[in-house]
Amino acid sequence: MAGINPYIQAPELIEKPTQKFTITYLPEGKTITVDPASPHGSGTGLPGSVLDIALAAGIDIDHACGGVCACSTCHVIIEKGFQSCNPSTEAEEDQLEQAPGLSSQSRLACQCVPNGRENLVVKIPAWNRNLVRE
Ligand code: FES
Repeated sequence: MAGINPYIQAPELIEKPTQKFTITYLPEGKTITVDPASPHGSGTGLPGSVLDIALAAGIDIDHACGGVCACSTCHVIIEKGFQSCNPSTEAEEDQLEQAPGLSSQSRLACQCVPNGRENLVVKIPAWNRNLVRE
């Protein structure tokens, strides 16, 4: 499953990046350069999301619902660049409440789309757990 969840509020207009920026994924410390001139995504999560970019670069982030804002397994902490990301929706906040180890910088990787004005540092928690309900 991938794409957009039709049962939740659609994200507001998301500002797309117009300049190159980087995302560093911790704890591995792998840094990806995102170039809007040659976008490459995985097709999972919102286009240009932290999850979409990670998976395309071979960085694994748990994503039990396929990136449609229906679980909390893709919970990440945006350690730098939080303000350059789209605002979270009510649906994302509801899912995040299920995630362990919440912080004020927490986001769902599949719903978090940076605008490229800042370089990001994203921490992938080791304690992610699958809370998808069937
Ligand atoms: S992968 Fe399920 S909410 Fe992001």
